[in-house]
Amino acid sequence: MRIIGTKDYEDMSRKAANIISAQIIMKPGCVLGLATGSTPIGTYQNLVKRYQEGDIDFSGVTTVNLDEYKGITKENDQSYYYFMNHNLFSHVNVDTNRTFLPDGTEPDADKACEEYNRVIEATGGVDLQLLGIGHNGHIGFNEPADVFKKKCHCVELSETTIKANQRFFASYDDVPKQAYTMGILTIMQARKILVVVSGEDKAAIVKEAFFGPITPKVQASVLQLHPDVTIVGDEAAFSLIKA
Ligand code: PGA
Repeated sequence: MRIIGTKDYEDMSRKAANIISAQIIMKPGCVLGLATGSTPIGTYQNLVKRYQEGDIDFSGVTTVNLDEYKGITKENDQSYYYFMNHNLFSHVNVDTNRTFLPDGTEPDADKACEEYNRVIEATGGVDLQLLGIGHNGHIGFNEPADVFKKKCHCVELSETTIKANQRFFASYDDVPKQAYTMGILTIMQARKILVVVSGEDKAAIVKEAFFGPITPKVQASVLQLHPDVTIVGDEAAFSLIKA
């Protein structure tokens, strides 16, 4: 596990974007696993800047996202489809036929998940997976559980997650209660993993996930077993560990 301590959110975002840029430069036809949430937004802004400055080229890149709410349309500005277009895809030269997310509009969970597993397998596997981490240790929408789920599946979002995401919706009732997420095995099969984490409110979970016992109660703890994980975090997020 490589731990890169940074000054603040800006610094974290720039350094995470450096790592993703290096991946794209070294393998222009790479597969990037992407994440939503507030933490990676600055990373995406830096990637857009690098693209505009002519330093990186997305024309050969394929992307697969971690998750999508179930039962939400693509046009809904809270869908992760919308998020990715708004924060990254519409600003760079990625071929949108090669940007994939689970289909949140598919009501049949088995069908949606089988299709997404097939899509990921067809890419040949993820070269670099970007991850945020939830306050309860979730990665993607793999919520605290008794087991690590392997592949794409439909999840009932936990109370903590619904409350954390409520800030983006008009009310608690408007927050979708289910989502489709990539499974832990698929995440662990990524050749490299990059975790971004910022803010004092993440300090406790950083310590628990990366320095505590490996348990499905804290899904991110499984990352301790991955051979190539880099965690880029700011001072506040790393305040309870020695970075
Ligand atoms: P956040 O979400 O970046 O908005 O804190 C992280 C996550 O829930 O994975």
